[in-house]
Amino acid sequence: MVRHVLSAFGALVMISTLHVDFPPIDKLPAHKDLPDPLVMLDGKRVATKAQWAKERRPELKKLFQHYMYGEFPPPVKVTAKVEHEDPKALGGKATLRDITLTLGGKHKVQLLLVIPNNRSGPAPVFVGLNFAGNHTVLDHPGIRVPTSWMYGNRKGVKNNRATEGGRGSQIDTWAVADIIDRGFALATVYSGDIEPDRADVREGVQAAFDQGKRPEAWGTIAAWAWGIHRILDYLVTLPEVDAARMIVVGHSRLGKTALLAGALDERIAVVMPHQAGMGGTAPSRGTVGESIKRINTSFPHWFNGNYKLFNDAPEKLPFDQHCLVALCAPRPVLFTNAQEDTWANPDGQFEVLRAADPVYRLLGAGGLEAKSRPKLDTLTDGALGYWIRAGKHSMTREDWQIFVDYAAKHAKK
Ligand code: GCU
Repeated sequence: MVRHVLSAFGALVMISTLHVDFPPIDKLPAHKDLPDPLVMLDGKRVATKAQWAKERRPELKKLFQHYMYGEFPPPVKVTAKVEHEDPKALGGKATLRDITLTLGGKHKVQLLLVIPNNRSGPAPVFVGLNFAGNHTVLDHPGIRVPTSWMYGNRKGVKNNRATEGGRGSQIDTWAVADIIDRGFALATVYSGDIEPDRADVREGVQAAFDQGKRPEAWGTIAAWAWGIHRILDYLVTLPEVDAARMIVVGHSRLGKTALLAGALDERIAVVMPHQAGMGGTAPSRGTVGESIKRINTSFPHWFNGNYKLFNDAPEKLPFDQHCLVALCAPRPVLFTNAQEDTWANPDGQFEVLRAADPVYRLLGAGGLEAKSRPKLDTLTDGALGYWIRAGKHSMTREDWQIFVDYAAKHAKK
């Protein structure tokens, strides 16, 4: 279906369910505040669930890819090989598997899957990328050490490669024993196995499934999120895992990734970006903490070329991050934060949820139940959830208690 409409910026544009015109930035209208998520790019108001599903949602998906994260390539075939299995891991409580996934016949990643043994049916599963290798998440000899490029400042890393020295060094960051005790499985991959986090992109999926040097081509956050989608392709084939209860979680840059993955893939039941901040859960128009210009300067590879056009003009973005949250609707989304982590703008993140709320209400999914930002340690656990604790930028066992509580409430059978 193609319609001709007069756009907000005066030009005649064609809009169809399959096609979105992407105006150059000087033709985009300025929005000082967060733009209304229920108004289309051409100015038309979205009043029904059907309009949201058929028009606005597809439009937003395309706008985010075009102006910010870059284009997601189509799915590729995923094959799996179990390299090691321990049916009595964690003192007999869990089955642990170290698996190689091969994406599109050419790119390999190592997946760690831990499934609770004490369960009456398929287990809900947390899916998330880690920063330092699967071998850091649990002290278990069956988990391989990654061979891809790694951050130099992680325990046991020498010349940007992981070593045995890091084994078990992130046990509290992932709290696997607690996750298993509460009846959840965990699927995790080292982010660098999908795409190493460096400006000189050459070892990961961006090179393997090359989109050329176009301003719309995918950045590293999109590459990581696409990698999560491929992990899901495999998980949904497993009888031990409940495909209707897949919860995506991630910290910081990997929290930005979790939110993007959730926004673009409706198989994800619950979305939990932790301290994700700028480019994730914080408003791009925010004035606290990191700015678009700063993130694009420090991490030029995370977003696409077009996003840099907004460095000095955030008001020109045709969306803000509340629209990414809205793409998750009606599925539950939890933002979690730490008081001292002002770089991630915890207050601005609450405003992002508030601005996504009308879309949840339109879809009859509840929304944000708190009127103002909750106090420390007070979980507001509606379909749009928020929690903030004391302390710094980190992911801890305490955070996992909240993740699991929220997931137990919202990822129902
Ligand atoms: C930097 C960056 C943030 C990011 C964080 C992280 O602080 O500026 O945007 O979230 O790293 O990933 O830890």
